[in-house]
Amino acid sequence: MTILVTGGCGYIGSHTCVQLIKQGFDTIILDNLYNSKEIVLERIYQITGKRPQFYQGDIRDKHLLNNIFKENKVTNVIHFAGLKAVEESIKQPLKYYDVNIYGSINLLEAMKAANVKKFIFSSSATVYGTQPNIPYIETMETEEPTQPYGRSKLFIEKILQDLAKAEKDWSITLLRYFNPVGAHPSGLIGEDPQGIPNNLMPYITQVAIGKLKSLAVFGHDYNTIDGTCIRDFIHVMDLADGHLAALNYNSSHSGVNIFNLGSGQGSSILEVISTFEQVFKKKLAYHFAPRRAGDLPAYWANADKAKKLLNWQTHLNLYDMVHDSWNWQSKNPNGFNE
Ligand code: NAD
Ligand code: UD1
Repeated sequence: MTILVTGGCGYIGSHTCVQLIKQGFDTIILDNLYNSKEIVLERIYQITGKRPQFYQGDIRDKHLLNNIFKENKVTNVIHFAGLKAVEESIKQPLKYYDVNIYGSINLLEAMKAANVKKFIFSSSATVYGTQPNIPYIETMETEEPTQPYGRSKLFIEKILQDLAKAEKDWSITLLRYFNPVGAHPSGLIGEDPQGIPNNLMPYITQVAIGKLKSLAVFGHDYNTIDGTCIRDFIHVMDLADGHLAALNYNSSHSGVNIFNLGSGQGSSILEVISTFEQVFKKKLAYHFAPRRAGDLPAYWANADKAKKLLNWQTHLNLYDMVHDSWNWQSKNPNGFNE
């Protein structure tokens, strides 16, 4: 099988390519390197002994997409490419709708023209909106997210559902990720945010490496076990394996199938910090700060459906996640910038 991986040089895409290659799949990456570096291909080669075929280009480029499908016998598409910064999406909504929504439609049109109809989409727990009933389960209604990034994910989910309703030969899997963290255990690939990180784990590791002064813990007056927010962190290697399980499922199930990919367990921010301190063997500089607008107090996944139907579950715990995040950061203080 030949898998076209859009956004395959990015954080989750690169880890998924490693696992795909290890399982013997041929991989083709399409990435415009907007939020990633070409050196990732070299690192994938170092880990697996194989270099994915690479097209540097944009998912909005119709001509390029048609060529990729003409030049290769693609059987499945895993679609990671897109923009993901929530704050930026509020300031630049058109950019987000253009890349995420138009880009996805363009990709689907090229797939249709090439008669490739097996598709896995990177969705997010954000499509559950702000509902207080946790854990989130796939049978819950979605709720419109409050920001353009989240809305783009929900709109794409709806577009895919409409498509599968109209054309019965599509096999579409929507994977709703919870909070991906961690890195490949080799420390050769990992998350490499540009500028000051917005997300918790890269912020922590950059404080630890001395690039940032102190972690602001946003809110410690939530109604949770220790007053800080609770999230369902999932190791990126487990998440990558979830895509392999979904590929397998996709081969024999048509229509739209939706799966939460999370550990099924919540951890508080203070728990993450104390686990990090065990790995780091030093105290982490942090301070309490006001709540961040838009943050929910607590949510985690009900991950039973993926366990039952995909035969997939997480194996790596919070210690592994922080250990591997720190291993990546300490071996690559400047990320992929050498
Ligand atoms: P990432 O930014 O590391 O990877 C995305 C990749 O897509 C990058 O390599 C980027 O260069 C590429 N890209 C962006 N625009 C493109 C375009 N127009 N054409 C071609 N390539 C383009 O992000 P990630 O964390 O690996 O996330 C992958 C997917 O998973 C995204 O769709 C994201 O929204 C979704 N997701 C991520 C998280 C998370 O916490 N990381 C959570 C839920 C969902
Ligand atoms: C955020 C996005 C979500 C997106 C996900 C992955 C929002 C509201 N949600 O999830 O849509 O899918 O990123 O990109 O932006 N925290 C701190 N200090 C920090 C950073 C974070 O205390 O410096 C806390 C946050 O308050 C939150 C938790 O850590 O409680 C996790 O934050 P983050 O990593 O940004 O992910 P989410 O907000 O859960």
